[in-house]
Amino acid sequence: KKTVEDIQIKDQTVLMRADFNVPLKDGEITDDNRIVQALPTIKYILSEGGKLVLFSHLGKVKEEADKEKLTLRPVAERLTELLGQEVTFVPETRGEKLESAIKALNPGEVLLFENTRFEDLDGKKESKNDPELGKYWASLGDVFVNDAFGTAHRSHASNVGISANLEAVAGYLLEKELKFLGDAVNDPERPFVAILGGAKVSDKINVIKSLLSKADKVLIGGGMAYTFYKAKGYNVGNSLLEEDRVELAKNLMEEAGDKLLLPVDNVVADDFSNDANSKVVPADEIPDGWEGLDVGPATVEKYAKELEKAKTVVWNGPMGVFEFENFAKGTIGVCEAIANIDGATTIIGGGDSAAAAQSLGYGDKFSHISTGGGASLEFLEGNELPAVAALDNK
Ligand code: 3PG
Repeated sequence: KKTVEDIQIKDQTVLMRADFNVPLKDGEITDDNRIVQALPTIKYILSEGGKLVLFSHLGKVKEEADKEKLTLRPVAERLTELLGQEVTFVPETRGEKLESAIKALNPGEVLLFENTRFEDLDGKKESKNDPELGKYWASLGDVFVNDAFGTAHRSHASNVGISANLEAVAGYLLEKELKFLGDAVNDPERPFVAILGGAKVSDKINVIKSLLSKADKVLIGGGMAYTFYKAKGYNVGNSLLEEDRVELAKNLMEEAGDKLLLPVDNVVADDFSNDANSKVVPADEIPDGWEGLDVGPATVEKYAKELEKAKTVVWNGPMGVFEFENFAKGTIGVCEAIANIDGATTIIGGGDSAAAAQSLGYGDKFSHISTGGGASLEFLEGNELPAVAALDNK
């Protein structure tokens, strides 16, 4: 795939799709990692003398009232601070104002236009990749740089649609994500250990299958472990359970043999709350009326031993309900174990586990923290990402 270094930038109007879909609370950005990760491409384009037009989606825009809380204005402000250079915010997604603001850009200047999903209010034009919209946005620039890895699993007008109409190349972040995740799944240094958590087997089934065929060990945690327990005939009490996936879990375990590891103990609670009564019990001894909310200390120890030996680690999904402080120890323990491995490539596949690692202060201990949630999962499943495939369309 061509990258931003393979095209002429100087004096060109460069359209750049970023993923600025950042978490907001009361209009404040609570985690700016996705903005920070886009800086290398932005800085490169500006230093090469490009006229830079940035855009992104933010949240899901369903009704007129969403516009107020889903404006990208706070992102323009944060970006201005991070760049140390004014990022002009244009509160439009099309039209004369936007077009003249783009024409007024000098080389080395940058603007950000409004949330691409504002176009969803009128027939889901962005999310359904309306061909007219992709064509229109493409008409605003000379070349298209897609750096929005986090959105690469979506086939939308602002990525796939533009790529169909204009020369489209990858930015540094997209390139880096594909390299780290791609090497891990296609050419890992071994042992390759994958550690997967999260609430539901159904969300992760294809990732588990795909990684079982590639990794040397797959360690399971989180709510989905209990569906596997059920398949083993264990009592799971009130723990999260997907009855309709028990058979599937059974088949997976049979195929995987000793490659697949399940938690050997759990922290169980008598209620789904941080203040519930809790105790640690072995895997096959969850009492009736209790539910597993975290993996126990013996599991953390066992998983840490596997992780210590690894040369490649991919982690996706928390080990328990880590939003509850009293049930976060499993996730913290695993995070620490991965952060402390020497000489391994350690990758977090985005989403909750990325947030957990950052908030624990381990962000810089990992080789790579993906900016993609859904996108990294789909990539790990072995699926082609439509926005990446579209880079060669024109
Ligand atoms: C994400 O946060 O996973 C991406 O920005 C995509 O967002 P979406 O799930 O709303 O399409």
